[in-house]
Amino acid sequence: MTSEQTAGLIRAAIEMLPKAYAPYSHFHVGAALLCADGTVFTGCNVENASYPVCFCAERTAIAKAVSEGRRAFTAICIVGGPGGAIQDYCPPCGTCRQAMAEFCDPAGFTVILAKSPEEYRVYSLEELLPLSFGGQHLV
Ligand code: THU
Repeated sequence: MTSEQTAGLIRAAIEMLPKAYAPYSHFHVGAALLCADGTVFTGCNVENASYPVCFCAERTAIAKAVSEGRRAFTAICIVGGPGGAIQDYCPPCGTCRQAMAEFCDPAGFTVILAKSPEEYRVYSLEELLPLSFGGQHLV
């Protein structure tokens, strides 16, 4: 990815922060998922009074992309903070790491954690979820 592509993905994730529905935790998360065909799907967290029903931002973006016919992904950017104010990096939860592993090659998929378009860290999914369980284990 070029630095312009990375900055664009970070801006798309930041734009989602005001859309987060987080009346319980007040922690807003935004995600922007880059598909192999170049399209970007965004997501925010969507909480529920029954707490476990909550959708994380990353899984919102993945579900939006898959439901629109995309299954090949290159990278995801994640941002978050209390009330939508980014104070630190927002790493993906374990459930979201597993959801990414369903569709993404662990070595080839990039996870970008950002504080701003200029301040970010880049990881492979394999770094964040080593020895992952997948469909290949079910045969
Ligand atoms: N959250 C996400 O959206 N993604 C993550 O990977 C971590 C947590 C959301 C879920 C909940 O709405 C809030 O952050 C606090 O846990």
